[in-house]
Amino acid sequence: GDVAVLVPAAGAGLRLGPGGPKALRLLAGEPLLVHAIRRLAAAPSVRVIIVAAPAPETEAVRELLAPIAPVTVVAGGRERQESVARALAAVPPDVDIVLVHDAARALTPPQLIESVAAAVRSGHPAVIPVLPVVDTIKEVHPAAAPAPAGVAAPPAAEMPSPGRVEVVAGTVDRAVLRSVQTPQGFRRDVLVAAHAGADGLVTDDAGLVEKAGAAVVCVPGSELALKITRPFDLVLAEALLHVPWA
Ligand code: C5P
Repeated sequence: GDVAVLVPAAGAGLRLGPGGPKALRLLAGEPLLVHAIRRLAAAPSVRVIIVAAPAPETEAVRELLAPIAPVTVVAGGRERQESVARALAAVPPDVDIVLVHDAARALTPPQLIESVAAAVRSGHPAVIPVLPVVDTIKEVHPAAAPAPAGVAAPPAAEMPSPGRVEVVAGTVDRAVLRSVQTPQGFRRDVLVAAHAGADGLVTDDAGLVEKAGAAVVCVPGSELALKITRPFDLVLAEALLHVPWA
């Protein structure tokens, strides 16, 4: 089983604040994408790496990654799903296992990449790394009340302003919930079929496979595979680079 990894890296990274495409933001002086590719290349199973870069940066990303590992770089799309589909189209014919890995999970350890690949190789058509949910999770009704005059806009999009409250609709049983990471691993034919039948947009590739009716299994994820999304995550990632087990 030859393994290819598709790396969607074409996102704008708006939640990280101003500063260009997220995959090219610096962490300890190097772009997040470089950190991610180095760890993928260190996983013994990985034979092919295909990156979906922001379209205007395709050539620059090719030059950036050439000294790190042999990679194919394609232009990404407007949505993550489109970026994955474009990378999938570039997978060589002899590959039968395909992993999809977010560039934003730049500190994902090679061992996690191996464990996902191994689970697919052992016969599971679709495999995702997951972590238990530590917080209590509530379902809420959208904030309906308009902000009273004079209330300033919230500092960050995810913080409701004092004038706009959400109302709790119920508590979800967290024991049955999992946070989902990448790399997600698939038998190639399963991922190709799932993308071919994709209608609405889903936020991960396993979601497409679920819609297609195939079983998806979970393996233990890693806290190091956090998705670097907000400025807080960059600070955390910077600190994680200095811990011996990271
Ligand atoms: O936006 P989100 O956090 O879900 O992005 C996850 C990954 O998908 C990131 O690595 C991002 O660069 C990538 N992406 C992409 N093409 C897009 C949007 C996001 O490759 N159009």
